[in-house]
Parts: sequence; structure tokens; C-alpha cells
Amino acid sequence: MTTSTAQEGASEAAAIYPPPQRLVNPENGVKPWCSSMEEYETLYKESINEPTKFWTRVANELITWDKPFTRVSQGSLKDGDMAWFPDGQLNISYNCVDRWALQDPERVAFVYEADAPGEASKVTYGELLKQVCSLANVLTSFGLRKGDTVAIYMPMIPEAAVAMLACARLGLVHTVVFAGFSSSSLAERVADARARVVITADEGLRGGRPIRTKAIVDEALLTCPEVEKVLVFRRTGNEAVAFNPDRDVWWHEAIASQRPYCPPVSVSSEDPLFLLYTSGSTGKPKGVVHTTGGYLLGAAMTLKYVFDIHDGDVFCCTADIGWITGHTYVVYGPLALGSTSVIFESVPTFPDASRYWKLVEDHKITQFYTAPTAIRALRRHGDSYVTKHDLSSLRVIGSVGEPINPDAWTWYNNIVGGGKCAVVDTYWQTETGSHVITPLPGATPAKPGSATFPFFGVELAILDPQTGEELEGNDVSGVLAIKRPWPSMARTIAGDHKRFLETYLRPYPGYYFAGDGASRDADGYYWIRGRVDDVINVSGHRMSTAEVESALICHPAVAESAVVGAPDELTGQAICAFVTLKDGIEATDDVKVELVKEVRHRIGPIATPKTLILVDELPKTRSGKIIRRILRKVVAGEADTLGDLSTLSDPSILDVLISKVAAAL
Ligand code: PRX
Repeated sequence: MTTSTAQEGASEAAAIYPPPQRLVNPENGVKPWCSSMEEYETLYKESINEPTKFWTRVANELITWDKPFTRVSQGSLKDGDMAWFPDGQLNISYNCVDRWALQDPERVAFVYEADAPGEASKVTYGELLKQVCSLANVLTSFGLRKGDTVAIYMPMIPEAAVAMLACARLGLVHTVVFAGFSSSSLAERVADARARVVITADEGLRGGRPIRTKAIVDEALLTCPEVEKVLVFRRTGNEAVAFNPDRDVWWHEAIASQRPYCPPVSVSSEDPLFLLYTSGSTGKPKGVVHTTGGYLLGAAMTLKYVFDIHDGDVFCCTADIGWITGHTYVVYGPLALGSTSVIFESVPTFPDASRYWKLVEDHKITQFYTAPTAIRALRRHGDSYVTKHDLSSLRVIGSVGEPINPDAWTWYNNIVGGGKCAVVDTYWQTETGSHVITPLPGATPAKPGSATFPFFGVELAILDPQTGEELEGNDVSGVLAIKRPWPSMARTIAGDHKRFLETYLRPYPGYYFAGDGASRDADGYYWIRGRVDDVINVSGHRMSTAEVESALICHPAVAESAVVGAPDELTGQAICAFVTLKDGIEATDDVKVELVKEVRHRIGPIATPKTLILVDELPKTRSGKIIRRILRKVVAGEADTLGDLSTLSDPSILDVLISKVAAAL
């Protein structure tokens, strides 16, 4: 099991931070949705012991159904045939847009903080409805019908959300690909999803630098002949961007001729809403499938309780819409509650390290949600970037994507939160759709570094990794599993249900296997210990070691490669690649540079190996299998506890390996 460094020092003796009084007894009298542990326990017990009553109530409270459901759920984790509200019908874009536009068209749906400081603008619910409808009509004019897939490869601009919502309005399945992925990664996803249309922009802008978004799409589509149309939003207006009139359509021209109303298509609660590709243990990314009703409920309900959203709140999640966090907490969750969501196009250090905090002050943000990597990076710049801004609007500040080390937690709490906000360390995954382990701001006493307790309806288990037996009671460590289906869980992997079963449901039959190690301390708090598979977590982004290895192998100089995660103070883990070269190729620095370039080209900059070590031999078993465990230990500085080496075919390579790592790291 890989143990996360972020949890070092975490124990049940850790400091406990009670919910801030300011939230529990607010001056304005608006009580948190859940304001004590007793209340949490009552609701949690109801969600587990009386699920039909609980889910019927919340699903009717938070969602407007076109056709009400009569059954809450069916199927089991054992059989992998879970369905929620299966006979209910709804439309997500109606729920996220029309409901609020009809009630209050002037309410702000999105605050758009553009890359250049000072270029903020707002999109009201009334405007959003028109934009979503016009775009839906464009998509219909392309011949798209319910069930077709559309790929979205866009910068962080409101139009990215408009594109998602327009798909949802028609029952189209969207697959958003993070715009930092390379053309070959994009092509792989577009082909796997069988997308017929790609929605993109001419260019992106990040930290003042243009990104060649459309050019990357053009490269990708050289190998995707089935794509019929590319809809291009004009973000920068750079006239040098190539345009193929047989295939490309300008967004602004297309919507100009469309009616700004489009009836929402009512879909089944179990119809797919989106595919989102994520890295697994093998080289090929998985298209995780989320469906409609259960996902929307998970998004809305977690946002309401975990961030304690009330009328007038301005919620800011800094994640890119290319990740699940952007889907659930930039787009679907906030809009399902009729809230205001901030879309942040830039980077936290542009023009300087106060960008986030200026953003909070300028837009009076009430809840702020980011990743530990950003927190750690900004902390290094010093407190003054934070303290010079008025952050008094903040009530809840959240963390997601990787374990947050207690030091970073404390800085976030004291300096950003001013000791007056609740810090919510939310544990979840692309596959879980929404938070599964998390504190509730008005209720849960926090322990820095622990994601605390399960959300409503989530029944957790810690299993012995070898026997699969459930470890009862407190003070136990093992692998994290979930014992019963919950509404926003993924239903399958696109085109490969067998892989879905094998990855999540068969390792421990009857349980959902999360892929993380975890402990439950003496007080029943959950601590996530990091991935137990060949997935590493770099800055909160999931990366498959096999995917990076496959990219390296594509280079003609490479004979073999092995990739592991090395502990990194800033990014949690960093990619460390070991490579052996083909006979006759000299191990030079130039080769190393070439190999790093190869990975960036094949996957994208997020997969850049931080360290690349050329070795003559990789540690292998006598049958020729690479022993990655040894590499992981060596890069973690634990070469003195390598464990059983009896299977290692040539122990004499270890000394060279250890000294090369010591020189490189
Ligand atoms: O290892 C866990 C880590 O991120 C993984 C999920 O990655 P992804 O699907 O990309 O989704 C990230 C955003 C939800 C998990 O298996 N992880 C996520 N949140 C936490 C975390 N590890 C520790 N603490 C967290 N709060």
C-alpha cells in the first residue's frame, strides 16, 4: 500500500476544531442546514435505515421531476446493476437554468473572472437560458439527437458550461476533455466516446499566454474522421487560427440564426448525462458514465449541506470543468441550487499570488473550494498576499483532490479563513460523482488532515486488503470501500461494463472498492492514506503510471520504462520515471529532454515527469516482471526497508539504483 506523506503525524490525538460559532449562531439568524452532530447523526441514520423515506424527501425537495419516480432505487453492488429513481423523468438543464430564470431572470448564474485581471463579467439566469437554448438549437441543426455524444474541449469560460447545459437540454451525452490534454489524448477520448461533434474555442488564455486550443483539436481530428462538425467559440479572435469551412462552424454565427428558446427533452433518470475520462491502472483511460437523476441529486445535496449554500451566496470552485470537480461544483451543483458560481479562467499566481484572495474580495465570495497543491503553493508566497484582502465574506473553505497535510490545513484555516470559517476536507472521486466523506460546516468538529465522516447515504467499510474481511470498530486501517449504492455513483465505463465490474465491484464482492487506503481512528474519523493501485496523484490530478509508461515507450530510444510516484512537498506526489535505453543509444541529458517532451506531447503538460532517471537495468523478478514496489521505496527515501528481495533477479543493481535516485532527487 502506498502511504501518503500528507498524513504523517495524523493521529487521533490531533487537534480538534469545533465548528465556528459564527456559523452555528450567525448574526443574520440563517442557521446552517445541519447545525449539530446530533442533527447529522439523525439524518445520517435515516439515510441508512429508512432510505426510501430519506431519498424520496430529498429528491423531491431538490429536483423538479417531469414525471415523478415511484421507486427510489434498484440493483446492487454485487450485480453492478444499480439504478436510482428509475421510472422518474427530468431534464437537468431545466432544473439548473429554467427554474431560476423563470423565477428571477436577473439573478446571477455565473461570475466570469477572465484571465486578465479586472475583466470580470456576469451571466444572469435569464441570459443563460437564452444562451443554452440557442446553442441547443444549433446542436439540433447539426442532426444530433438524444443519446449522441458531444466532446467539449474548452477554456474555463461560461460558454463551456453553456455547452454542457445545451447538451443536457437535448439528452445528448457530453464528454468534457481537460484543455491541457494533448491532441493525441483528445483524439483517444473523442474516438472512444464516438463523439460526432466537438465544441471548442479558437484559443485559450492562461496567465496572459495564449493556448492553441483549436489547433490541438485540428491535430486530434486528423485521426477522428467520424467527427462531422467543430463548433468554435471566438475567445481571443486571433485571425491566424485555422478554419475549415467544410467542418468548422463559428459559435457566434450559428447562434445568431437560432431561436433563443428550445424545449427541454425529458429523459429517464438513468439516461447518461456525461462521460468523463479518468486514469486507471492500465494505460487506457476509462470513460466513467454518470447518469441524470442520481448525479444531479448528489451534486445539489452535497453542495447544499457541505458548503451550506443559502440564498445570495457566491460559490467559487477553482477546478477546471475538465475534471469532475468542475462538473459537479462549478456547473451542476451551484446551478441546481439556483446559486451564483464563479468561473475562474486564470491561474492563482497571475499577475501575483493574491489573485484568489482578490477574487474573493471583489466578488464577496462566501464559499471557496480549491486543492491542497494550490494552498501549499500560495502559502509559500507568504501571508501578506492573503491578509491585504478583505476575506470577511467567506464562511466555508474547502479542499479536494488529495490529502491535505495538517500544516497546510492550519494555514488555510488561520490565514485564509481567519479562524472564522469552517474548513471542509472533502474526499470523493470521479466515480463517486459527489462528496462521500466530508465534514459539515455547522456540525462536524474537524481534525486537520481527516475528511471526517461519511455523507448521507454513504455506508463506509474498511477492509483487510488481503482477506477482504471488513474491519469492525475503530482504530483500524485497510482499504476503503462503500457498502451500498448511492445516487451519484458512476454506473459503468463507456463500452466496457466488464472493466467497470472488475475495477470497482469485483475486487471485494458486494462492495464498491475506492482504490484508496484509509484508517478509522479511535474517534471514528476517516483518514485517507492514498491510492493502493498504480494511480498517482499529482496536484490533485489522477495520473496512471501505465499511461506515462506507454507514452515513454513510444519514443524510439526507449527499451523499457517504469513510472512511480515520488513524495513531493508541493504537488503531493510527483512523477518519477525510470527508463532503460535501447542498445547503442547513449544516456545523455539531451535524451532525457527528448523523453520528457515525448510524454508532454503524448499526454499533456500535466503528465510531465519531474524526475527522469536513465538506468541500465530495472529491478525485476526472475520471470522478468518489473518490481515497482522497490522503485517506490527508493524514491520515498526508504531504501533501508525494501522488504522481501528474494524474488529480485539481480540484487547487485540496487546500489547503483539507490545512488542514481539520490543524485536525481
Ligand atoms: O486518492 C483519492 C484522491 O483523489 C482520488 C480521486 O481522484 P479524481 O477521480 O481525479 O477526483 C478528484 C476530485 C474529486 C481519490 O481516489 N482524493 C480526492 N479527494 C481527497 C483525496 N485524497 C485525500 N483527501 C481528499 N479529500
